[in-house]
Amino acid sequence: MGAGTMKDKLIIRKIFFDDCEAGMQIASDLYSGSKSLIVPAGTILDEYSLARIAKFKIALVEVFEPAPEICADKPKPKPFEHVYSVQVGKIRNIFESLENGNPLRMEEIRTTVKELVASDIGNRDILHTLNSLRSSDEYTYTHSLNVGILAMMLARWSGHSEAVTKQICYAGVLHDIGKSRISMDIIKKPGKLTVAEYEAIKMHPVEGYNILKKCPVLAEDIRQGVLMHHERLDGSGYPLRVKGPKIHEYGKIVAIADVFDAMVSDRCYCAKESPFSVLAHFKNQFFQHLDVKYLDIFVQKMSVYYLGERVRLSDGSEGEVVYINPQKINHPIVQINGRILDLADETTIAINGLALA
Ligand SMILES: [Fe+2]
Repeated sequence: MGAGTMKDKLIIRKIFFDDCEAGMQIASDLYSGSKSLIVPAGTILDEYSLARIAKFKIALVEVFEPAPEICADKPKPKPFEHVYSVQVGKIRNIFESLENGNPLRMEEIRTTVKELVASDIGNRDILHTLNSLRSSDEYTYTHSLNVGILAMMLARWSGHSEAVTKQICYAGVLHDIGKSRISMDIIKKPGKLTVAEYEAIKMHPVEGYNILKKCPVLAEDIRQGVLMHHERLDGSGYPLRVKGPKIHEYGKIVAIADVFDAMVSDRCYCAKESPFSVLAHFKNQFFQHLDVKYLDIFVQKMSVYYLGERVRLSDGSEGEVVYINPQKINHPIVQINGRILDLADETTIAINGLALA
């Protein structure tokens, strides 16, 4: 007995509604999609208030909770931001080593995937890091890591086992490894590619497959995922031009992660789009090309994870996304200095992008 408590020190934490319990205290007002106050700040959650939050489908809630006890002899876990930048460096080394004609550095790939899969940080923190640390200079490396992370998350959301999720993470991280065999002048060309250059680029899934073929420890499923990440359901993809049922499941998942990350990133030949705009049109735009079952899960889960993000608006202001209507992902409700703005009503104002620190 006698251990001191820190009951007087409270912090505010944003949690998913699923994690809310009776007895927790709400830290900020909760509003419905039509801007009515549902539960005021300070409310102690009970069955009635929990039912109201559920009824209005509010996904994220701020609650008070005791500040964690500071324990001097316990090492702090590494922030995901740190894990991310270390892994980008490793992927750069792996690509550069392959470009110099060396074999794939399998041990580095293994530690990267192990670190990502074992990372006990919440998906939301991972996404925040992904959004904050996009670098156009290192696009190939950050994109490989982002696709590994997004494919891993989609695999988990889809109910795949941890063993399969890990393999899909491998396929995501390695999906563009074949680009190390293609001239950097073509890969980084800012303008439109010639027919011959595009044909060369289209060989990167095969090149990737051949690189991985030399690593017998990797499962064939991972190689198939890499080989098929540009195949499309209607047969319009490459290099094999196979249709829906013949496309490997890993290839279908990696394709979604690949297209999404490419659209929300600054690439050398194309400016990025806001993730809200990409998610709003993702299903309609790609239902003939990408697997609808995985598309549905991806759009639904990803849009929830952008709740609470700070965004830049076209009128120059910045605010926090407090509600996303699944039918109008591109027009969420934003809180700006305490003022609630429903972008579904304010049609002259749009989201320009995420407001990154
Ligand atoms: Fe690719």
